[in-house]
Amino acid sequence: MNQIRRALVTGATGFVGSHLVRRLVAEGWHVECVVRPRSERSMLPVQAICREHDGSTCGLTDLVSGASPHVVFHLASMFVSEHLPEQVEPLIRSNILFGAQLLEAMSSAGVDALVNTGTVWQHYGTADYDPVNLYAATKQAFEAIAWFYSRARCLRVLTLELSDTYGPDDRRSKLFSLLRKAASTGDRLAMSGGEQLIDLVYVDDVVDALLVAASSVLLQPSGYMRSFGVLSGRPIALRALVNEYLSVTGQSIEIDWGGRPYRHREVMVPPNCTPSLEDWQPSVGLAEGIRRMERLPR
Ligand SMILES: NC(=O)c1ccc[n+]([C@@H]2O[C@H](COP(=O)([O-])OP(=O)(O)OC[C@H]3O[C@@H](n4cnc5c(N)ncnc54)[C@H](OP(=O)(O)O)[C@@H]3O)[C@@H](O)[C@H]2O)c1
Repeated sequence: MNQIRRALVTGATGFVGSHLVRRLVAEGWHVECVVRPRSERSMLPVQAICREHDGSTCGLTDLVSGASPHVVFHLASMFVSEHLPEQVEPLIRSNILFGAQLLEAMSSAGVDALVNTGTVWQHYGTADYDPVNLYAATKQAFEAIAWFYSRARCLRVLTLELSDTYGPDDRRSKLFSLLRKAASTGDRLAMSGGEQLIDLVYVDDVVDALLVAASSVLLQPSGYMRSFGVLSGRPIALRALVNEYLSVTGQSIEIDWGGRPYRHREVMVPPNCTPSLEDWQPSVGLAEGIRRMERLPR
């Protein structure tokens, strides 16, 4: 009989995390999730066990030890594109301190396989390392710490660098939620010039990539640490993307293109400088993904 696979997931209550947990449960994994006392858990299946982290390293070690997972999926993160001074501490707490506690907890509990999530924004202008923003710098800082744990404590770490993702049940305030809101209110939407290319991967394809990554990291020798890109390979200009969304959904919105400046260090072309994840291809095209996201019939 096959042994039941066990996963521990951080960021399980987030967009990608909740889709991942539902898939793991559907595929028969035993899943435990590290949540915060105030995390909204209603999107998680009842089979997934939520464990509250008390904020301490010892507390996290107990959670990791109790879950005894074959693999840890680390998706917890705070995202902010242009930070305010008061966001420095929460960014570092969520993206560096919590991650470092997790690595220490894994090492203490004898759990050694980690699938981590990074961002292509660690590579502004396709540099090996040039963070687009403080968020991307914190993701890199976590990897620098993970490097210690892989060298000195023999952890196996595979990072997937994500670009943009989309799909149903996305509570983040991103492009599609803005378009949806403008379509329902009839408000005119001010946007940048719209020339920037966006690389979007449908959330089911991202989950596929996470599962491929888990299978891969479990086959690696101790001390392994590598990063792979998860991109659709079909970047599309923001203006064309908005047109595609409106055409698939049959909505119309008044858009003031150029009504907002581009962001400081706007990414005009998604960096594609990290090797692609082997044994993974996106399978959901943009029009189909938009239909699925909006739950429209074919
Ligand atoms: N989605 C994308 O397009 C994209 C692109 C590039 C990289 N990524 C990376 O992919 C991962 C998943 O992204 P996502 O979009 O699914 O994230 P998300 O929807 O913003 O969710 C973030 C998750 O992290 C948890 N979290 C934040 N701070 C925490 C802390 N201090 N302790 C414990 N949990 C904490 C949140 O828990 P609460 O429910 O308690 O708030 C939530 O479950 C992240 O690492 C992100 O950086 C995503």
